This record gives sequence, C-alpha cells and structure tokens, in this order.
Amino acid sequence: MPSLTPDRRPAETPSRPSSSHIANEAVSQVRDPPRGPTAAPTPEPERETPPAAPSTSDAAAVFDSLLEVKGELFKGRREVLRDSYIPSRLPHREHQIHQVAEVLAPALRGDLPSNLLIFGKIGTGKTAVVAQVRRDIERRAEVSEHIQFIYINCGNIDTPYSLLQMAGNTFAAKESDRIPTGWSLDRVQAGMRRLMDTKARTVILVLDEIDRLVVRSGDGVLYTLSQINTELANARLVIVGISNDLKFTNNLDARVRSRLNEEKILFPPYDALQLQDILRERAKEAFRDGVVDPGVIERCAAYAALEHGDARRALALLRLGAEMAERDHAKRITPDHIVKAKNRLEQDVIIDCCRTLPTHCKILLYAILQAYERRRTGVLTGDVYEGYAKLAQKLGLQPLHARSVSNHLSDLEALGLIRATIVSRGRGGRTREIIVDVPIAETLPALEEDPLLAPLGRPRNRGQLLLTNFDNPARTTPY
Ligand SMILES: Nc1ncnc2c1ncn2[C@@H]1O[C@H](COP(=O)(O)OP(=O)(O)OP(=O)(O)O)[C@@H](O)[C@H]1O
Ligand SMILES: [Mg+2]
Repeated sequence: MPSLTPDRRPAETPSRPSSSHIANEAVSQVRDPPRGPTAAPTPEPERETPPAAPSTSDAAAVFDSLLEVKGELFKGRREVLRDSYIPSRLPHREHQIHQVAEVLAPALRGDLPSNLLIFGKIGTGKTAVVAQVRRDIERRAEVSEHIQFIYINCGNIDTPYSLLQMAGNTFAAKESDRIPTGWSLDRVQAGMRRLMDTKARTVILVLDEIDRLVVRSGDGVLYTLSQINTELANARLVIVGISNDLKFTNNLDARVRSRLNEEKILFPPYDALQLQDILRERAKEAFRDGVVDPGVIERCAAYAALEHGDARRALALLRLGAEMAERDHAKRITPDHIVKAKNRLEQDVIIDCCRTLPTHCKILLYAILQAYERRRTGVLTGDVYEGYAKLAQKLGLQPLHARSVSNHLSDLEALGLIRATIVSRGRGGRTREIIVDVPIAETLPALEEDPLLAPLGRPRNRGQLLLTNFDNPARTTPY
C-alpha cells in the first residue's frame, strides 16, 4: 500500500513553501517581438498569414501576434488540457473506477450504498474518477429518477450553513422553496431534510477536499449528515468524501469516523510511465498531428513524477509548454519549451512566497535584488545591511538591528530565495556572499505590490521577461 501524507509540497523544491498554485496561463508582460522558432526544421508548409497591420499600442501588437499563430498547434478546444475537462478514458485508474463503481452499485438496485472515503496525493485522479463514475451512472436512464448526485468542493465552502444550504437547494423545484441566508443552523438542517425528502431517492453527496471542511468548521456538520438517514422518511444519503490527508479522520468524533469510514479507497501516485500514457491520450485530443516533438511527453512525465506523480502538474507543463511554443511562433512543441514551462511554474510559486514575507524581510530582499541586479554577481552581507537600512529609511521606517536582519537573511535562505556562501577576504577575514535564487525582473514588482514598498517602484524595461534557470541561476536567460 503506498504511503500517503498530507504534504502538498513539491518534492523537487523541498525548501520552498508548499503551494498547489498552477501558473497563470497568460504571461502578463509585454514582450519583445518573438524570436525565431526554436523547433527543428519542419516539413510543414510556411504559414500564409499576411503581415499584421501596424498596431496602435504594445498590447495590440501582442494580441495581433497571438491571433496570428492561433490554431497552429492546438487542434480544437485547448480546455482539453485543463482540470475541468473530464476525458472519456482515465488510463491507469481502471481499478479505482471499478472499486468506486462497486461501492456505489447498490444504489442502482435501489439499495443504500456504504459511505466511502477516497484518499490520495494531489493530482492522482480522485476527482476525475468520481466525476467519471457519476457520469456513467447518470447516463443510465433507468436510474436518473431515483439517484441524485451532489458535488460540493469543501475548499469553496466557508461554513456548515452554506454547505447544508447548497445541498438542500439542489432539490428546490422553485425559487420560493430555496433555503435563504439568515436562518438558524437548526432550521437550515430541517429545511435541507424536507427538500431532500420530497422524493424517494438515493442522494450521493460528494464532499471533495472534505479535510478542509473539518479544519475550517470541525466535524459537526459531518455528524449531522452521517446520521441523517435516521431522520429521512423517503430519501437516503450516502457520503463520498475525498481527501489528500489520510490522517484527517483522526480528528473526527469516533462515531462520525466509523460512519464515514465504511469503505476506503487509496489512489497511489502515478509513475513516470503511467503519466506518459495519460499525457499521450490528452495530447492526441488537444494537438494537431506531428506538432509534439519526441521527448516532450517524456519530459513532462519525468518532472511530474518527481513531484509525487501529479497528473495535474504533468498536464500544466504540457499546456504551458505549448503556449510557450505558440509565443515563440514555433510550429512544434520541443523539450526546451517544457523546460521553460517548468521554470515558469516554479517561478510562480516563488513569487507567491515573496508576497507573503513580513515587511522588513521584503525590504531586505528588495535591497538584495537591487544590488544583484546592478552588479550581476554575489552581494556581500555588509552591502546588504547598508542597502536595506537606506531603503527602510527611505520608506520612513526604523531599520532593524543587525541581529534581526541576520535572522531575516536566514529565513530567506531557508525559503530557498537566496543562497549565502562564505568567502575569504584575505587578511580582511571572512564574510558571506549572497546569491539570488529568484527571478529578479518578476520578483521586484511583486514586492512593490505591498503598499508599504510601493514608493520604491520605478519604471522598468517591460519588454523583457527573465526565465530563471533554477538548476544554474547564473544561466538565467531572457525569454
Ligand atoms: N488517469 C488519468 N487519465 C487522464 N487524466 C487524468 C488521470 N488522472 C488525473 N488526470 C487529470 O489530472 C488532473 C488532476 O486530476 P484530479 O483533479 O482528479 O486529481 P485529484 O486527485 O482530485 O487532485 P487533488 O487532490 O489536488 O484535488 C485532471 O485534469 C485530471 O483530468
Ligand atoms: Mg481533486
């Protein structure tokens, strides 16, 4: 049995804060005119696009160039590579589909299925499998009358009230039947039961990210839901909980735990070969024939396999790689585009992390980045202190003492944003030299988003986006 932990941290970047954040699709900066294609020569005929008319603004030029390449790589809807798309086949999840279907099958015969908990690390296909089983059940005309699915992502639900209200309102035939806001919790519970009970049916309530509900609101609402069948006259409720956190049931009341835990299914992480199969199927649906170079799928799969076999990550790499290729006006997606996509995804995680630093830590990082940007070599700690103090004063703040600054430096290092190495200065003794591990051109504006640091902002060359090579930051290149 695979070991599962609640950790959402990418294995590749252990020192960085965890995030399930997926890159923004659009690179927000206006770029230099795209360089020539990076792909190998291609047998396809040249495009016969007429030259774009002169644009009135930089943004217009970008739109023109993006429209010009539209459709070169993607065959149809690019949603095929997104999370919301449920493919018709889920390779390497046949066994889990079978298991989930087996647990829910009694509902097809009019019997009450057991409650079910599904566990697995992120991107292991839990949501997709349940969505597919639901689709297959709903397609059977004979059951559509007496089986009703409700899907709720608990990550988007703030309170037990909104969960019960949302579940109840699924059955409201008309506006006046709906549970409004502002009732007592008891009244909402009664209202939900009344609405559910209007028909003899089996309600399959899917609570995705159920652990987040418990963290946010405790297990009270799960207690209510797990014993609701004793109070329903016509309808019956089954709960399918989905979670990344195998241990979340430890925090549940023993009665709730045993009721929810009637059946349990574990989703193991995908390995690199399984991810390749998944990507190949999706690529076939998404791209025109012959536009995916050899090595592309393998590289996406290898990167994602390192991150505990996350299919979402693998698909994001492929989609972003294709978008990078489009912006290069390339006719094929190459392994290099996937490397750039990987850098881009990591960069987004890092920038999010910078946004959450305490103010003085942000100022310190800002001073380091400024000095590094000017010199393009390591910065000595003495210069960092000086630069930090100047910036703090400029912002009307009292600079921290050297010891506190040193602690902040250690924090930045622990987060993997900078690296400090000891350098010998001959008779002058030894000092620390700081090297930056974040993309400067993107991080400075992110720090300036803090209103306290905003006065430090200055116009900068918007035409260039730096893509940091995290394996070797010195080789950071403009994209
Ligand atoms: N076997 C598979 N075949 C095709 N696509 C898959 C497969 N497994 C997962 N995917 C795709 O990978 C993405 C992530 O899958 P899914 O959302 O089901 O993961 P999850 O286990 O629910 O993750 P999380 O715990 O983060 O919610 C989705 O786009 C899904 O369609
Ligand atoms: Mg999910």
